[in-house]
Amino acid sequence: MPLLYKVPYNIPVDRELISLGFESTSHTFGVGVVRLRNGFVEVLANVNSQYKPLKGGLHPREAALHHMEKAYPLLKQALREAGIGLGDVSLVSYSMGPGLGPCLRVSASVARFLASHYGKPLVPVNHAVAHIEVGRLFSGLEDPLVIYVSGGNTMIVAARGGGYRVLGETLDIPLGNLLDTFAREVGIAPPYVVNGKHAVDVCAEWSREFIPLPYTVKGSDLSFSGLLTAALQKARGVGREGLGAVCNSLRETAFNMLVEVAERSLLLTGKKSLLLVGGVASNTVLKWKLEKLAETHGIPYYGTPPEVAGDNGLMISYTGLLTYLYGVSVEPEKAVVKQRLRLDEGDYPWLKE
Ligand code: FE2
Repeated sequence: MPLLYKVPYNIPVDRELISLGFESTSHTFGVGVVRLRNGFVEVLANVNSQYKPLKGGLHPREAALHHMEKAYPLLKQALREAGIGLGDVSLVSYSMGPGLGPCLRVSASVARFLASHYGKPLVPVNHAVAHIEVGRLFSGLEDPLVIYVSGGNTMIVAARGGGYRVLGETLDIPLGNLLDTFAREVGIAPPYVVNGKHAVDVCAEWSREFIPLPYTVKGSDLSFSGLLTAALQKARGVGREGLGAVCNSLRETAFNMLVEVAERSLLLTGKKSLLLVGGVASNTVLKWKLEKLAETHGIPYYGTPPEVAGDNGLMISYTGLLTYLYGVSVEPEKAVVKQRLRLDEGDYPWLKE
């Protein structure tokens, strides 16, 4: 991937800055290093390690143990790749939330320690905003409608009045969680992703049959729990082809629901571009459907590339940099984590420009 990206905002200062960022909201511990110079962001390092449970779902305490083990070696690797020492860093940023408490506390602790020991500004970052900002940085799209889909979130988002507004979201489980839970319950995961394909995508190739399943859209909001229950019932006692039909139908139904609410928000807001971000943004079928939606409306579309779609340190270091440029930092003793931090809770000054 190219390493230089033009900052898509009129930033207030343009001195050279290096941001070190830590991500640990869920399964991934990540360290990112970016440098701001002449209005461009240079990616110096983006090293990440994902905790992969051998069976069952993600246990927050076990994931946190993984993050603690990886923190030092990944920090060392990131600094080596970036060719810098800790003294060269201008600011330290960390994922403040939303996320799992034990996991969040790992990067917050590491960042707090480094910031106080080396006397660096400490910058908390909203993880959801970071997903969007890295998508905006890479795409260069001006004011897009954002589809944010991951294991923990499913939202349609637009920037308005100096913040991000949630136009529609899941009323129960997120899209990534729907796919993971179904795959786990029917015994085709873990691993959830093999060679870049989700277990449900692999299984969907076993059949072309479509079975009607609950399709629940309420205005611009979505509900996936009834769909999950119905799909699990249909999967009971079926063979390989039958399971393939359920996987295919589950994926089609869930993705079509998302496309419908995305289209409604597009028409309501009049936004002129479409941006897909978050861990599920790597899904080729979802990408294709949203590409078609954008094509139908004659607007540009950008799907965040897999290396930055999932949780990563780069998005935190970049968003920390943006935040710091507008004078935001906290004292280490006040650097908290917020498990239920909302995307629309804060003001993001760069959106006011
Ligand atoms: Fe995420």
